[in-house]
Amino acid sequence: MKTISVLGATGSVGESTIDLILSAPEQFSVECLTAESNYKKLAAQAIAVNAKHAVIADEQYYDDLKAALSGHNIEVTAGRQAIIDAARIEADIIIGAIVGFAGLEPLMVALEHGKSVAIANKEPLVAAGPLFMDKARACGTTILPVDSEHNGVFQIFDEANKAAISRIVLTASGGPFRTWDAADMDAVTPQQAVAHPNWSMGAKISVDSATLMNKALEVIEACILFDMPPEQVEVLVHPQSIVHAMVEYNDGSILTHMGAPDMRTPIAHVLAWPDRMKTSGKTLDLSALQTLDFEQVDHAKFPAVQQAYDCLKRGQAACVTFNAANEVAVAAFLAEEISFTDIYKTVDHMVKEVEDRTIENLDALIAFNDEIRQKTRNFLEKSGLLRAA
Ligand SMILES: NC(=O)c1ccc[n+]([C@@H]2O[C@H](COP(=O)([O-])OP(=O)(O)OC[C@H]3O[C@@H](n4cnc5c(N)ncnc54)[C@H](OP(=O)(O)O)[C@@H]3O)[C@@H](O)[C@H]2O)c1
Repeated sequence: MKTISVLGATGSVGESTIDLILSAPEQFSVECLTAESNYKKLAAQAIAVNAKHAVIADEQYYDDLKAALSGHNIEVTAGRQAIIDAARIEADIIIGAIVGFAGLEPLMVALEHGKSVAIANKEPLVAAGPLFMDKARACGTTILPVDSEHNGVFQIFDEANKAAISRIVLTASGGPFRTWDAADMDAVTPQQAVAHPNWSMGAKISVDSATLMNKALEVIEACILFDMPPEQVEVLVHPQSIVHAMVEYNDGSILTHMGAPDMRTPIAHVLAWPDRMKTSGKTLDLSALQTLDFEQVDHAKFPAVQQAYDCLKRGQAACVTFNAANEVAVAAFLAEEISFTDIYKTVDHMVKEVEDRTIENLDALIAFNDEIRQKTRNFLEKSGLLRAA
Protein backbone atom coordinates (compact mmCIF):
# COMPACT_ATOMS: atom_id res chain seq x y z
CA MET A 1 0.00 0.00 0.00
CA LYS A 2 1.23 3.49 -0.84
CA THR A 3 0.67 6.37 1.54
CA ILE A 4 -0.61 9.57 -0.14
CA SER A 5 -1.26 13.18 0.81
CA VAL A 6 -3.15 15.54 -1.48
CA LEU A 7 -2.44 19.27 -1.10
CA GLY A 8 -5.39 21.01 -2.75
CA ALA A 9 -7.70 17.97 -2.56
CA THR A 10 -10.94 19.88 -3.23
CA GLY A 11 -9.90 21.32 -6.60
CA SER A 12 -10.20 19.84 -10.06
CA VAL A 13 -6.92 17.88 -9.93
CA GLY A 14 -7.52 16.97 -6.28
CA GLU A 15 -10.99 15.64 -7.03
CA SER A 16 -9.72 13.45 -9.89
CA THR A 17 -7.01 12.15 -7.55
CA ILE A 18 -9.60 11.25 -4.91
CA ASP A 19 -11.68 9.44 -7.59
CA LEU A 20 -8.66 7.31 -8.48
CA ILE A 21 -7.82 6.57 -4.84
CA LEU A 22 -11.42 5.49 -4.23
CA SER A 23 -11.27 3.26 -7.31
CA ALA A 24 -8.33 1.30 -5.85
CA PRO A 25 -8.71 1.39 -2.03
CA GLU A 26 -6.46 -1.65 -1.62
CA GLN A 27 -3.54 0.26 -3.19
CA PHE A 28 -3.62 3.57 -1.30
CA SER A 29 -3.81 4.80 2.26
CA VAL A 30 -4.45 8.54 2.70
CA GLU A 31 -2.42 10.51 5.21
CA CYS A 32 -3.65 14.05 4.66
CA LEU A 33 -6.01 16.15 2.54
CA THR A 34 -5.96 19.97 2.42
CA ALA A 35 -8.18 22.78 1.10
CA GLU A 36 -8.39 26.56 1.21
CA SER A 37 -12.00 27.10 2.37
CA ASN A 38 -14.28 24.37 1.01
CA TYR A 39 -14.65 22.54 4.33
CA LYS A 40 -17.78 20.61 3.28
CA LYS A 41 -16.07 18.96 0.33
CA LEU A 42 -12.89 18.41 2.33
CA ALA A 43 -14.84 16.67 5.11
CA ALA A 44 -16.71 14.46 2.63
CA GLN A 45 -13.46 13.49 0.91
CA ALA A 46 -11.64 12.83 4.19
CA ILE A 47 -14.43 10.53 5.36
CA ALA A 48 -14.65 8.76 1.97
CA VAL A 49 -10.92 7.94 1.82
CA ASN A 50 -10.52 7.52 5.60
CA ALA A 51 -7.80 10.19 5.77
CA LYS A 52 -5.76 10.58 8.96
CA HIS A 53 -5.60 14.41 8.74
CA ALA A 54 -7.76 17.15 7.19
CA VAL A 55 -6.33 20.66 6.98
CA ILE A 56 -8.12 23.88 6.02
CA ALA A 57 -6.09 27.00 5.21
CA ASP A 58 -8.79 29.52 6.14
CA GLU A 59 -9.00 29.39 9.94
CA GLN A 60 -12.58 30.68 10.05
CA TYR A 61 -13.72 27.22 8.86
CA TYR A 62 -11.92 25.25 11.57
CA ASP A 63 -15.03 24.78 13.76
CA ASP A 64 -17.17 23.84 10.76
CA LEU A 65 -14.65 21.27 9.58
CA LYS A 66 -14.25 19.90 13.09
CA ALA A 67 -18.04 19.56 13.43
CA ALA A 68 -18.37 17.92 10.00
CA LEU A 69 -15.75 15.34 11.02
CA SER A 70 -16.96 14.71 14.56
CA GLY A 71 -17.22 11.01 15.31
CA HIS A 72 -14.47 10.24 12.80
CA ASN A 73 -10.91 9.60 13.83
CA ILE A 74 -9.50 12.39 11.62
CA GLU A 75 -7.19 15.05 13.04
CA VAL A 76 -8.26 18.58 12.05
CA THR A 77 -5.99 21.61 11.82
CA ALA A 78 -6.33 25.05 10.24
CA GLY A 79 -4.28 28.01 9.04
CA ARG A 80 -1.49 28.79 6.56
CA GLN A 81 1.16 27.18 8.75
CA ALA A 82 -1.00 24.06 9.11
CA ILE A 83 -0.93 23.63 5.30
CA ILE A 84 2.87 23.80 5.38
CA ASP A 85 2.91 21.35 8.31
CA ALA A 86 0.65 19.02 6.31
CA ALA A 87 3.52 18.65 3.86
CA ARG A 88 5.76 17.46 6.73
CA ILE A 89 3.71 14.29 7.17
CA GLU A 90 5.78 11.46 5.71
CA ALA A 91 4.17 9.87 2.63
CA ASP A 92 5.16 7.83 -0.38
CA ILE A 93 3.56 10.40 -2.69
CA ILE A 94 2.62 14.00 -1.96
CA ILE A 95 0.41 15.47 -4.68
CA GLY A 96 0.85 19.24 -5.21
CA ALA A 97 -2.56 20.37 -6.50
CA ILE A 98 -2.89 23.81 -4.85
CA VAL A 99 -3.40 26.59 -7.39
CA GLY A 100 -0.85 29.37 -7.75
CA PHE A 101 2.29 30.55 -5.94
CA ALA A 102 0.53 29.72 -2.63
CA GLY A 103 1.63 26.11 -3.20
CA LEU A 104 5.34 26.96 -3.11
CA GLU A 105 6.11 26.68 0.61
CA PRO A 106 4.19 23.41 1.13
CA LEU A 107 5.89 21.95 -1.97
CA MET A 108 9.36 22.93 -0.76
CA VAL A 109 8.62 21.22 2.58
CA ALA A 110 7.11 18.21 0.76
CA LEU A 111 10.46 17.63 -0.94
CA GLU A 112 11.90 16.67 2.46
CA HIS A 113 9.02 14.37 3.47
CA GLY A 114 7.67 12.72 0.33
CA LYS A 115 9.51 9.89 -1.42
CA SER A 116 7.90 11.29 -4.57
CA VAL A 117 6.34 14.70 -5.08
CA ALA A 118 3.81 14.77 -7.91
CA ILE A 119 3.35 18.30 -9.19
CA ALA A 120 0.31 19.71 -10.94
CA ASN A 121 0.88 23.10 -9.29
CA LYS A 122 3.10 24.66 -11.99
CA GLU A 123 3.31 28.25 -10.69
CA PRO A 124 5.88 27.43 -7.93
CA LEU A 125 8.07 25.70 -10.52
CA VAL A 126 7.92 28.76 -12.79
CA ALA A 127 8.76 31.14 -9.96
CA ALA A 128 11.24 29.03 -7.99
CA GLY A 129 12.44 26.40 -10.46
CA PRO A 130 16.19 26.42 -9.72
CA LEU A 131 15.70 26.53 -5.91
CA PHE A 132 13.10 23.80 -6.15
CA MET A 133 15.12 21.43 -8.32
CA ASP A 134 18.28 21.98 -6.23
CA LYS A 135 16.37 20.99 -3.11
CA ALA A 136 14.79 17.96 -4.81
CA ARG A 137 18.28 16.78 -5.79
CA ALA A 138 19.65 17.40 -2.29
CA CYS A 139 16.76 15.45 -0.72
CA GLY A 140 16.88 12.66 -3.32
CA THR A 141 13.16 13.17 -4.00
CA THR A 142 11.59 11.99 -7.24
CA ILE A 143 9.58 14.68 -9.03
CA LEU A 144 6.65 13.31 -11.01
CA PRO A 145 4.96 15.74 -13.43
CA VAL A 146 1.15 15.70 -13.37
CA ASP A 147 0.51 18.32 -16.04
CA SER A 148 -0.64 16.19 -18.99
CA GLU A 149 2.01 17.54 -21.39
CA HIS A 150 4.89 17.16 -18.93
CA ASN A 151 3.65 13.79 -17.80
CA GLY A 152 3.64 12.82 -21.48
CA VAL A 153 7.21 14.08 -21.93
CA PHE A 154 8.27 12.22 -18.76
CA GLN A 155 6.98 8.97 -20.28
CA ILE A 156 8.91 9.32 -23.58
CA PHE A 157 12.00 11.28 -22.51
CA ASP A 158 14.99 8.94 -22.57
CA GLU A 159 17.11 10.49 -19.81
CA ALA A 160 19.99 8.09 -20.55
CA ASN A 161 20.04 9.35 -24.15
CA LYS A 162 19.41 13.00 -23.36
CA ALA A 163 22.18 14.28 -25.63
CA ALA A 164 20.32 12.73 -28.58
CA ILE A 165 17.13 14.69 -27.86
CA SER A 166 16.77 17.53 -30.32
CA ARG A 167 13.51 19.02 -29.06
CA ILE A 168 10.45 18.66 -26.87
CA VAL A 169 7.08 19.70 -28.29
CA LEU A 170 4.25 20.66 -25.95
CA THR A 171 0.81 20.87 -27.50
CA ALA A 172 -1.81 23.52 -26.73
CA SER A 173 -5.50 23.19 -27.49
CA GLY A 174 -5.57 26.87 -28.41
CA GLY A 175 -8.37 27.47 -25.88
CA PRO A 176 -11.87 28.78 -26.56
CA PHE A 177 -10.70 31.81 -28.61
CA ARG A 178 -8.35 30.08 -31.05
CA THR A 179 -10.50 30.99 -34.04
CA TRP A 180 -11.73 34.37 -32.78
CA ASP A 181 -10.69 37.69 -34.30
CA ALA A 182 -8.25 39.52 -32.04
CA ALA A 183 -10.56 42.55 -32.16
CA ASP A 184 -13.36 40.61 -30.42
CA MET A 185 -11.25 39.44 -27.51
CA ASP A 186 -11.55 42.65 -25.49
CA ALA A 187 -15.17 41.81 -24.79
CA VAL A 188 -14.57 38.25 -23.55
CA THR A 189 -16.39 37.54 -20.27
CA PRO A 190 -15.08 35.35 -17.43
CA GLN A 191 -17.85 32.83 -18.22
CA GLN A 192 -16.62 32.54 -21.83
CA ALA A 193 -13.00 32.31 -20.75
CA VAL A 194 -13.51 29.46 -18.28
CA ALA A 195 -15.51 27.38 -20.80
CA HIS A 196 -12.61 25.31 -22.12
CA PRO A 197 -13.43 23.25 -25.23
CA ASN A 198 -11.62 20.03 -24.14
CA TRP A 199 -10.69 20.07 -20.45
CA SER A 200 -12.67 20.61 -17.24
CA MET A 201 -10.43 22.57 -14.84
CA GLY A 202 -10.32 25.19 -12.08
CA ALA A 203 -11.10 28.83 -12.94
CA LYS A 204 -7.50 30.18 -12.89
CA ILE A 205 -5.99 27.55 -15.19
CA SER A 206 -9.03 27.82 -17.49
CA VAL A 207 -8.38 31.55 -17.96
CA ASP A 208 -4.67 30.76 -18.41
CA SER A 209 -5.60 28.29 -21.14
CA ALA A 210 -7.72 30.92 -22.87
CA THR A 211 -4.85 33.46 -22.89
CA LEU A 212 -2.30 30.69 -23.67
CA MET A 213 -0.55 31.85 -20.50
CA ASN A 214 -0.95 28.24 -19.35
CA LYS A 215 1.22 27.09 -22.27
CA ALA A 216 3.66 29.91 -21.56
CA LEU A 217 4.00 28.76 -17.93
CA GLU A 218 4.37 25.20 -19.21
CA VAL A 219 7.31 26.15 -21.47
CA ILE A 220 9.14 27.43 -18.38
CA GLU A 221 8.01 24.37 -16.40
CA ALA A 222 9.39 22.03 -19.11
CA CYS A 223 12.78 23.79 -19.18
CA ILE A 224 12.97 23.39 -15.38
CA LEU A 225 11.72 19.82 -15.10
CA PHE A 226 13.72 18.36 -17.97
CA ASP A 227 16.71 20.72 -17.75
CA MET A 228 16.33 21.69 -21.40
CA PRO A 229 17.31 25.02 -23.00
CA PRO A 230 14.33 27.13 -24.16
CA GLU A 231 15.32 26.81 -27.83
CA GLN A 232 14.71 23.04 -27.57
CA VAL A 233 11.20 23.41 -26.15
CA GLU A 234 8.49 24.19 -28.71
CA VAL A 235 4.75 24.71 -28.66
CA LEU A 236 2.29 23.55 -31.32
CA VAL A 237 -1.42 24.23 -31.30
CA HIS A 238 -3.34 20.95 -31.54
CA PRO A 239 -7.07 21.62 -31.12
CA GLN A 240 -8.08 17.98 -30.47
CA SER A 241 -5.86 17.68 -27.31
CA ILE A 242 -5.09 14.03 -28.14
CA VAL A 243 -1.33 14.32 -28.62
CA HIS A 244 -0.05 15.86 -25.39
CA ALA A 245 3.67 15.89 -26.05
CA MET A 246 6.40 14.81 -28.44
CA VAL A 247 10.11 14.19 -28.01
CA GLU A 248 12.24 14.33 -31.15
CA TYR A 249 15.59 12.50 -31.26
CA ASN A 250 18.48 13.43 -33.54
CA ASP A 251 17.90 10.38 -35.77
CA GLY A 252 14.57 11.97 -36.77
CA SER A 253 12.37 9.72 -34.61
CA ILE A 254 9.54 11.52 -32.87
CA LEU A 255 8.05 9.73 -29.88
CA THR A 256 4.52 10.89 -29.17
CA HIS A 257 2.41 10.70 -26.06
CA MET A 258 -1.33 10.41 -26.74
CA GLY A 259 -4.43 9.98 -24.62
CA ALA A 260 -7.96 11.24 -24.15
CA PRO A 261 -8.09 14.71 -22.56
CA ASP A 262 -8.77 13.41 -19.06
CA MET A 263 -6.54 14.37 -16.12
CA ARG A 264 -7.19 10.99 -14.50
CA THR A 265 -4.74 9.47 -17.00
CA PRO A 266 -1.61 11.43 -15.95
CA ILE A 267 -2.70 11.37 -12.30
CA ALA A 268 -3.06 7.56 -12.44
CA HIS A 269 0.41 7.41 -13.98
CA VAL A 270 2.02 9.27 -11.08
CA LEU A 271 -0.01 7.41 -8.43
CA ALA A 272 1.05 4.02 -9.75
CA TRP A 273 4.58 4.96 -10.93
CA PRO A 274 6.75 3.05 -11.69
CA ASP A 275 3.88 0.57 -12.19
CA ARG A 276 0.60 1.20 -13.99
CA MET A 277 -2.95 1.13 -12.67
CA LYS A 278 -6.22 0.51 -14.47
CA THR A 279 -8.56 3.50 -14.51
CA SER A 280 -12.15 4.20 -15.45
CA GLY A 281 -10.95 7.33 -17.30
CA LYS A 282 -11.92 7.96 -20.93
CA THR A 283 -10.16 5.73 -23.44
CA LEU A 284 -9.29 6.83 -26.93
CA ASP A 285 -11.05 5.46 -30.02
CA LEU A 286 -8.41 6.23 -32.64
CA SER A 287 -10.59 4.96 -35.51
CA ALA A 288 -13.23 7.57 -34.61
CA LEU A 289 -10.73 10.40 -34.95
CA GLN A 290 -10.90 11.91 -38.41
CA THR A 291 -7.83 14.13 -38.16
CA LEU A 292 -5.13 15.36 -35.84
CA ASP A 293 -4.36 19.00 -36.65
CA PHE A 294 -1.23 20.93 -35.73
CA GLU A 295 -0.61 24.63 -36.27
CA GLN A 296 1.75 27.36 -35.13
CA VAL A 297 0.80 29.64 -32.24
CA ASP A 298 -0.61 32.99 -33.40
CA HIS A 299 1.85 35.09 -31.38
CA ALA A 300 0.21 38.38 -32.35
CA LYS A 301 -3.11 37.28 -30.85
CA PHE A 302 -1.60 35.26 -27.97
CA PRO A 303 1.62 37.04 -26.90
CA ALA A 304 2.09 35.05 -23.66
CA VAL A 305 4.14 32.22 -25.17
CA GLN A 306 6.73 34.58 -26.64
CA GLN A 307 6.80 36.48 -23.31
CA ALA A 308 7.73 33.22 -21.57
CA TYR A 309 10.75 32.71 -23.86
CA ASP A 310 11.83 36.30 -23.19
CA CYS A 311 11.55 35.73 -19.42
CA LEU A 312 13.58 32.51 -19.64
CA LYS A 313 16.34 34.43 -21.40
CA ARG A 314 16.32 37.11 -18.71
CA GLY A 315 16.27 34.86 -15.62
CA GLN A 316 14.43 34.23 -12.40
CA ALA A 317 13.28 37.76 -11.51
CA ALA A 318 11.47 37.99 -14.85
CA CYS A 319 9.92 34.52 -14.38
CA VAL A 320 8.66 35.40 -10.86
CA THR A 321 7.20 38.64 -12.23
CA PHE A 322 5.59 36.91 -15.21
CA ASN A 323 3.77 34.52 -12.90
CA ALA A 324 2.89 36.98 -10.11
CA ALA A 325 1.56 39.66 -12.48
CA ASN A 326 -0.53 37.03 -14.25
CA GLU A 327 -2.00 35.74 -10.96
CA VAL A 328 -3.05 39.25 -9.96
CA ALA A 329 -4.38 40.09 -13.44
CA VAL A 330 -6.38 36.84 -13.74
CA ALA A 331 -7.96 37.43 -10.31
CA ALA A 332 -8.89 40.97 -11.44
CA PHE A 333 -10.35 39.62 -14.70
CA LEU A 334 -12.40 36.96 -12.86
CA ALA A 335 -13.66 39.72 -10.52
CA GLU A 336 -14.68 41.66 -13.68
CA GLU A 337 -12.30 44.50 -12.79
CA ILE A 338 -10.30 44.38 -16.02
CA SER A 339 -10.87 43.10 -19.55
CA PHE A 340 -9.47 39.85 -20.97
CA THR A 341 -6.78 41.56 -23.07
CA ASP A 342 -5.74 43.69 -20.07
CA ILE A 343 -4.24 40.48 -18.68
CA TYR A 344 -1.56 40.64 -21.42
CA LYS A 345 -1.07 44.37 -21.03
CA THR A 346 -0.55 43.99 -17.28
CA VAL A 347 1.90 41.10 -17.54
CA ASP A 348 3.79 42.80 -20.36
CA HIS A 349 4.09 46.07 -18.41
CA MET A 350 5.27 44.38 -15.21
CA VAL A 351 7.83 42.17 -16.97
CA LYS A 352 9.25 45.13 -18.90
CA GLU A 353 9.47 47.23 -15.75
CA VAL A 354 11.21 44.72 -13.50
CA GLU A 355 15.00 44.77 -13.23
CA ASP A 356 16.88 41.52 -13.62
CA ARG A 357 18.45 40.43 -10.33
CA THR A 358 19.67 37.39 -8.47
CA ILE A 359 17.34 35.86 -5.91
CA GLU A 360 19.43 34.01 -3.34
CA ASN A 361 16.96 32.03 -1.28
CA LEU A 362 13.34 31.14 -0.62
CA ASP A 363 12.65 34.01 1.80
CA ALA A 364 13.97 36.54 -0.73
CA LEU A 365 11.85 34.95 -3.44
CA ILE A 366 8.66 35.06 -1.36
CA ALA A 367 9.32 38.73 -0.45
CA PHE A 368 10.00 39.56 -4.11
CA ASN A 369 6.79 37.80 -5.21
CA ASP A 370 4.78 39.81 -2.62
CA GLU A 371 6.41 43.03 -3.86
CA ILE A 372 5.52 42.27 -7.49
CA ARG A 373 1.94 41.40 -6.57
CA GLN A 374 1.58 44.73 -4.76
CA LYS A 375 3.18 46.63 -7.66
CA THR A 376 0.82 44.89 -10.09
CA ARG A 377 -2.20 46.00 -8.05
CA ASN A 378 -0.77 49.54 -7.97
CA PHE A 379 -0.31 49.44 -11.74
CA LEU A 380 -3.92 48.31 -12.27
CA GLU A 381 -5.18 51.12 -10.04
CA LYS A 382 -3.02 53.88 -11.54
CA SER A 383 -3.16 52.83 -15.20
CA GLY A 384 -6.92 53.28 -15.49
CA LEU A 385 -7.34 49.66 -16.60
CA LEU A 386 -9.61 48.95 -13.64
CA ARG A 387 -12.08 51.58 -14.81
CA ALA A 388 -11.90 50.35 -18.41
CA ALA A 389 -13.48 47.00 -17.59
N1 LIG B 1 -7.30 21.33 -13.49
C1 LIG B 1 -6.50 20.71 -14.35
O1 LIG B 1 -6.95 19.93 -15.20
C2 LIG B 1 -5.00 20.95 -14.28
C3 LIG B 1 -4.19 20.33 -15.23
C4 LIG B 1 -2.81 20.52 -15.14
C5 LIG B 1 -2.28 21.32 -14.16
N2 LIG B 1 -3.09 21.94 -13.27
C6 LIG B 1 -2.51 22.80 -12.23
O2 LIG B 1 -2.85 22.24 -10.97
C7 LIG B 1 -3.07 23.28 -10.01
C8 LIG B 1 -4.48 23.13 -9.46
O3 LIG B 1 -5.41 23.35 -10.51
P1 LIG B 1 -6.97 23.08 -10.31
O4 LIG B 1 -7.58 23.34 -11.63
O5 LIG B 1 -7.18 21.76 -9.65
O6 LIG B 1 -7.34 24.27 -9.30
P2 LIG B 1 -8.67 24.48 -8.46
O7 LIG B 1 -9.76 23.61 -8.99
O8 LIG B 1 -8.89 25.93 -8.37
O9 LIG B 1 -8.26 23.90 -7.01
C9 LIG B 1 -7.27 24.50 -6.24
C10 LIG B 1 -7.09 23.76 -4.92
O10 LIG B 1 -6.17 24.49 -4.11
C11 LIG B 1 -6.83 24.96 -2.90
N3 LIG B 1 -6.31 26.30 -2.66
C12 LIG B 1 -6.59 27.44 -3.37
N4 LIG B 1 -5.89 28.48 -2.87
C13 LIG B 1 -5.16 28.00 -1.82
C14 LIG B 1 -4.29 28.59 -0.87
N5 LIG B 1 -3.99 29.90 -0.92
N6 LIG B 1 -3.74 27.79 0.07
C15 LIG B 1 -4.03 26.47 0.14
N7 LIG B 1 -4.87 25.86 -0.73
C16 LIG B 1 -5.43 26.61 -1.69
C17 LIG B 1 -8.31 24.92 -3.22
O11 LIG B 1 -9.11 24.83 -2.04
P3 LIG B 1 -10.68 25.30 -2.06
O12 LIG B 1 -11.40 24.28 -2.91
O13 LIG B 1 -11.09 25.25 -0.65
O14 LIG B 1 -10.71 26.67 -2.67
C18 LIG B 1 -8.37 23.64 -4.08
O15 LIG B 1 -8.27 22.51 -3.25
C19 LIG B 1 -2.84 24.60 -10.76
O16 LIG B 1 -1.53 25.03 -10.53
C20 LIG B 1 -3.02 24.22 -12.23
O17 LIG B 1 -2.26 25.04 -13.10
C21 LIG B 1 -4.44 21.77 -13.31
